[in-house]
Amino acid sequence: MPITGIYGPDDFAGRPQGQTPTLPRTAPARTEAALPMPSLEWTDEVEHATAPLYERVKHVIPPIEWPLMAPTIKAINELKQARGAVILAHNYQAPEIFHCVADIGGDSLQLAVEATKVKAGIIVQCGVHFMAETSKLLNPDKTVLIPDSRAGCSLAASITGADVRLLRERFPGVPVVAYVNTSAEVKAEVDICCTSSNAVQVVESLNAPTVIFLPDRYLATYVASKTDVKIIAWKGACEVHERFKGEELRALREADPSVQIIAHPECPPDVLAEADFTGSTAHMINWVREKRPRRLVMITECSMADNVRAELPDVEMLRPCNLCPHMKRITLSNILESLLTLGEEVTIDPALAERARRSVERMINLKN
Ligand code: 13P
Ligand code: SF4
Repeated sequence: MPITGIYGPDDFAGRPQGQTPTLPRTAPARTEAALPMPSLEWTDEVEHATAPLYERVKHVIPPIEWPLMAPTIKAINELKQARGAVILAHNYQAPEIFHCVADIGGDSLQLAVEATKVKAGIIVQCGVHFMAETSKLLNPDKTVLIPDSRAGCSLAASITGADVRLLRERFPGVPVVAYVNTSAEVKAEVDICCTSSNAVQVVESLNAPTVIFLPDRYLATYVASKTDVKIIAWKGACEVHERFKGEELRALREADPSVQIIAHPECPPDVLAEADFTGSTAHMINWVREKRPRRLVMITECSMADNVRAELPDVEMLRPCNLCPHMKRITLSNILESLLTLGEEVTIDPALAERARRSVERMINLKN
């Protein structure tokens, strides 16, 4: 069924003007802990040591670019050992990060779950800030680093903790589900979190006739189409996925009726109507591994198509895709810098973290 209602900052007369989400908190780099910069020269030794890694990405990184990346990749992998660190990377990270330095890759749910199993004392989160915050929530005693804390998210930026309190006042007793693409401050105000992998399951787990689902209006619309629970949504959107248009997909299909189209549920409904499959980034990747389509359009972030093509070169990827500018703030250079200086360290107020953690753990503890 369609969503029951949709609200945004302009729908609350008493909302303070100009209220914006709290900026991510990070501690300054600990200069006393800094290690010296290693040599980043392209040598025979570097070429030999990184040859197995180049095999993984040779279909998506031209040979001429590898000498520019390989010395930094080698230095990062050595520093990870020296620091006792683990690198978590979202599926939207560039192939040289995802395939060559990450220890664990995946979608938001997989990264949140893997974060609970990490033994290393230091986590370097290659993804956006809300992902690093989630890792910190689940690993309060570990050092969680994000190579660039400006890596935000238009969804996380669309809503504040105070907005959630206003929604609760307007709809007393209605449970609130927050997509993990939110700040810890918002997670602290809600009943449970979800990701795009488990959103319908989480909504139905509440056994309520109506649920407030925030902040993504399009994911809310998708969830509403899959359940009888009434959904009240928030006017947030992903700046990357909202730009796709159903008509461009229709044109692609007219040009080649055999093309397969798969899309992320953060896309608008006219886009999802054209898709052969809709799912989280991990579900999309599994779909491609299983179906092995000849020609494929992945309606999501561009690096994910590159990461899949690195693994499955026989699948021909057609555009369009869109780049997430926030994800692209993470680079080999700032990952190296992060490991050298132990910056930027994600911090969350302990009392707020306690409440936010509960919402994430409730999601993780849901039985499949
Ligand atoms: P996934 O949970 O599907 O990995 O999506 C996260 C995200 O930010 C998509 O834009
Ligand atoms: Fe946020 Fe969209 Fe970027 Fe995902 S792709 S991190 S939802 S802005």
